[in-house]
Amino acid sequence: MPSSPSFSLISGCDVTVVPPQQPPVIRIKGLRTAFGRQIVHDGVDLTVRKGEVLGLVGGSGTGKSVLLREIVGLMEPTAGTVEVLGKDTRRIPERERIALQARWGMLFQDGALFSSLTVLENIQVPLKEHTALPREMIEEIARIKVAMVGLPADAGVKYPSQLSGGMRKRAGLARALAMDPEILFLDEPTAGLDPISANAFDELIGNLQKSLGLTVVMVTHDLDSLYAICDRVAVLVDKKVVVGTINDLLGQDHPWIRDYFHGPRGRAASAAKG
Ligand SMILES: Nc1ncnc2c1ncn2[C@@H]1O[C@H](COP(=O)(O)OP(=O)(O)OP(=O)(O)O)[C@@H](O)[C@H]1O
Ligand SMILES: [Mg+2]
Repeated sequence: MPSSPSFSLISGCDVTVVPPQQPPVIRIKGLRTAFGRQIVHDGVDLTVRKGEVLGLVGGSGTGKSVLLREIVGLMEPTAGTVEVLGKDTRRIPERERIALQARWGMLFQDGALFSSLTVLENIQVPLKEHTALPREMIEEIARIKVAMVGLPADAGVKYPSQLSGGMRKRAGLARALAMDPEILFLDEPTAGLDPISANAFDELIGNLQKSLGLTVVMVTHDLDSLYAICDRVAVLVDKKVVVGTINDLLGQDHPWIRDYFHGPRGRAASAAKG
């Protein structure tokens, strides 16, 4: 796929602007997922561009988490293609797949921290798996990541069970950032947090995205997060995705999309955004 002809016009480093000409980092075509007779996705097409923050929404059980797992190669779609950073994740040799995995980070819906490891040890796992860096350097990087996500230094020596829900999310985020990824996948990062902690987490994601130039794909039910940090939103409905800016989606007349964006929560989030 040739890159954009107007790319050379972009100067400076303002990553807050996401020109549509940015190259795609994720391309999904004709994706179909079936579990036995249950069809979850049927013809999902989706392109995510470099530096974009894409929200992924949809009713419970519509296949948001499964889609993320398919993008990162933890699950195989039944049919279709998934290309990440220019590689078809199902058609590359194991060694290349492992190298590719180091270029993204994922915060799972349930946190998925190892309960028997401290926060610092959790963050070190991908570094030990993917690099041959000396131990002291790995420890130092883990400490930097703890600070980067706004956790106090003493949280690093705690076990996940000794942290609050919000702190666990931040610890999971620190682990997802361990390898300085290009893409960050977040599955319901603010679920279960009180509104103030959720706002703070959104702000953290927004700041990290801008300062690190990350591409972010975030599954969320949280309309405030969509308004706060997402450039576009992909909605899973009828086993497919409808993608657009929030303004585009406000004009859609699909019943689920209309209820979601024009319902009381949608109106409140829109009003809060001003
Ligand atoms: N490994 C699996 N085997 C069989 N069915 C599965 C598997 N994983 C997910 N499913 C089914 O696929 C559907 C989509 O699941 P998924 O977890 O992606 O939903 P979701 O959109 O993330 O929902 P939620 O908002 O509740 O997290 C569900 O019906 C689920 O039961
Ligand atoms: Mg889910």
